[in-house]
Amino acid sequence: MVSSVAPEFTVRLKLPLRFYRAFSSSTSIEYPPLHNHSQWSGLHHWRRSLLNDYRYWGSNGPVQEPAETETGPHSFSTFSALNSCASLAEMGAMVLSTANPLVKAKLSHLAYAKWREKGLPVGVSDAPLAPARPVKPLLVSPKEIPSPKSSGLPLNAYMLHNLAHVELNAIDLAWDTVVRFSPFMELLGEGFFADFAHVADDESRHFTWCSQRLTELGFSYGDMPAHGFLWRECEKSSGDVTARLAVIPLVQEARGLDAGPRLVKKLIGFGDHRTSDIVEKIAAEEVAHVAVGVYWFVSVCQRMGRVPCSTFKDILDEYNVELKGPFNYPAREEAGIPQEWYDPSSTMTKVEENKQLSEVCHS
Ligand SMILES: [Fe+2]
Repeated sequence: MVSSVAPEFTVRLKLPLRFYRAFSSSTSIEYPPLHNHSQWSGLHHWRRSLLNDYRYWGSNGPVQEPAETETGPHSFSTFSALNSCASLAEMGAMVLSTANPLVKAKLSHLAYAKWREKGLPVGVSDAPLAPARPVKPLLVSPKEIPSPKSSGLPLNAYMLHNLAHVELNAIDLAWDTVVRFSPFMELLGEGFFADFAHVADDESRHFTWCSQRLTELGFSYGDMPAHGFLWRECEKSSGDVTARLAVIPLVQEARGLDAGPRLVKKLIGFGDHRTSDIVEKIAAEEVAHVAVGVYWFVSVCQRMGRVPCSTFKDILDEYNVELKGPFNYPAREEAGIPQEWYDPSSTMTKVEENKQLSEVCHS
């Protein structure tokens, strides 16, 4: 929902560019409060944050991209084609149809920046059946993914390649949510699309960092096979927004919260502190993406008069989605996912508890 535009318009005329970039279209969006649900404390700040141009990993962390960074010979025409797009959904469809990973990542950022700065509408567009992908990596089933030893990559590059693949998929997953549900803008509200375009921008920054670091290690994205599992989960939930929110942010992205600290630890153990710093930063930023999913899942459930916890469990049963631990309980709690949604042991009935206790006592 967009509130009165007149005061913001007055502010825009008087402020320098940096300020204008912060207070663009996204700040006039209203987000209805959730009832009886504890949400991530940083959500309001994340929604109002400046456009993040720190897409290069410098000697001490994220910095602005050097001017000479190249994304390929065809990129200029792709970027200028963005000018013909008049809405967020059209720009999202263009990102989804772009195969080159670095061009896709850059285009994501330019699209999000243009939408924020120009105040374009969400609009409507058709999402492609599947996002465009580069020739490499070869997509195989999860079982066919080579082990670290047989991959030909050292362990740090192997783990980083896997993460790069997750981040590239995450760009498309977020844009697909924007574009596929764009016909329901009146029902969902502008904030839904603002949030998921913002997620896509974050993911594009994460992929760019991973890609840069792979290059520094002497490798590139595509040097080993990857799986198509993440997109298949996305396809399954294409016809239902509650299912999409449950399966992608609340399951897939939440798995990232569980896996992030373990990955950081392994990279430190390997002795690659630069890569571990990148992964630590990415993992910290993923909390926002899970929190956004929780907010919209609960919001849609409440508007439909459904109980979020049982709705979440019903969807996982219906879509045959399995939840696997070990869970990062503090991170999940911070992001706003109650433990009883995903951990059966937390909802054990008194009868079950007594039965287990008596078994322990008699053993
Ligand atoms: Fe990410």
